[in-house]
Amino acid sequence: MTDYEKLKHKLVKMADLQHILAVLGWDREVNMPPKGGAFRAQQAATLSGMIHNLATAPELGELLEKLKDDTTLDAVQAKNVALASEDYLKSQKYSEAFVVELSQTISQTNEAWAKARTASDFSLYAPSLKKLVELKRQECELLGYEEHPYDAMIDQYEPGTKTAEVTELFDGVREQLVAFVEEINQAQQVDNAFLTQHFPREDQWNFSLELLKQMHYDFEAGRQDISLHPFSTSFSPLDVRVTTRINENNLAEMIWSCIHEGGHALYEQGLPVEQYGMPVGSYVSLGVHESQSRLWENNVGRSLAYWQHNLEKAKSHFPGQLDGIDVEEFYRAANKVEPSLIRTSADELTYHFHVMIRFEIEKALIAGEIEVEELPALWNEKYKAYLGIDVPNDAVGILQDVHWSHGSIGYFPTYSIGSFYAAQYYHHAKAEIGDLDGLIVKGEMKPLLDWLRKHIHQPGKFHTAKELCEKVTGEPLNFNYFMEYAREKYSNIYALASETSA
Ligand code: CO
Repeated sequence: MTDYEKLKHKLVKMADLQHILAVLGWDREVNMPPKGGAFRAQQAATLSGMIHNLATAPELGELLEKLKDDTTLDAVQAKNVALASEDYLKSQKYSEAFVVELSQTISQTNEAWAKARTASDFSLYAPSLKKLVELKRQECELLGYEEHPYDAMIDQYEPGTKTAEVTELFDGVREQLVAFVEEINQAQQVDNAFLTQHFPREDQWNFSLELLKQMHYDFEAGRQDISLHPFSTSFSPLDVRVTTRINENNLAEMIWSCIHEGGHALYEQGLPVEQYGMPVGSYVSLGVHESQSRLWENNVGRSLAYWQHNLEKAKSHFPGQLDGIDVEEFYRAANKVEPSLIRTSADELTYHFHVMIRFEIEKALIAGEIEVEELPALWNEKYKAYLGIDVPNDAVGILQDVHWSHGSIGYFPTYSIGSFYAAQYYHHAKAEIGDLDGLIVKGEMKPLLDWLRKHIHQPGKFHTAKELCEKVTGEPLNFNYFMEYAREKYSNIYALASETSA
């Protein structure tokens, strides 16, 4: 065996364990009975410890050291060595005790969050969250940072992105988007009441499968199930799962979360199989991952062309229920802009205010500028300021998201970054493919998927998110693509005067 083959053997073994952990996580969300939680948490912690031991083994470090100067490696192999070395140095910073404590605290905090949310009582969650935040602050110190401790948190999800960059990006968003949403709020409002009739579960399920098939989601390499919160997870490019949630009184929830998770899954199914377990075989960053889900959900799934193709299909799945609705009405309903309480059901414009609120809070929390006890009041204050909304209780306020209970701090900004990447990539896809809308009207999604496969999916993690954006679009991430897309679309839907001036 060459040194590179030895490395591959070790990395694939670690990836296998990571994917086993993912299977346990998927099972917990989809199948596990309520009493299974405690031992499942223990099982996950045991596996995490085993992975940590392999990831920090001195033999791995020695092997990587030898391979660093190996001139016989090709570009992809050298990239794998470089990325694996970065991962190795990073995992060296954690002690096994810290990893196990973090894993256990996360399990406890997650359970406390679920109970607190059911009872709408933040105080049931606060003690565990406090402990977890303390561990995350320690983690920032372990990992190190140059300017802001939160840099160490974002770096785990959007490598190379700094707190200062996100702050600057969001300042630009605030400057343009607040005024635009205000203009929309004052325009004639859109009626989407027909989406909240009773739509039977079975019919919704069948429609969701059709939408996934149309995107070319490969059911031979995946499956869909029901879970409380929709998500996608991957055990290899040949087994990528999605889940959906069906609300019988709101068709919108299923449709756009199904397309969203489908977009995530297409990315994972398109990663290079021959690089399984190797760094290059992975997705680039969560922002790039989210760009793929948002692109399908919003740029495609909320477009007029998409509903020119799919409204008739919807009508056949729900006989009689959408009879009087024409495609323009459906399109407008799909894009209703309305400040609301819940991030996951927000429209694609006000969505970013939800993200900005979370970003501001967790940035201050990690820096020790605020403490856990102050969160509900601060949350409610910011919802009033950004969205003009009074938060009636914690369940629909501070307790609505699972992320912090998972220890995922620094994750939220990637949602907005993903939308902005999506707009930029979609702009280029349209320019290169030609009449993309014309293809979508005919239900032909393959040319778009092929473009995404070639430019985004197949390279895996060979480029960083910033390099990939430059390579594919010729410039760095630029919020103006999102804003241009939003102005064109919503000026039309809301008949705004700025349509001509923008
Ligand atoms: Co997503």
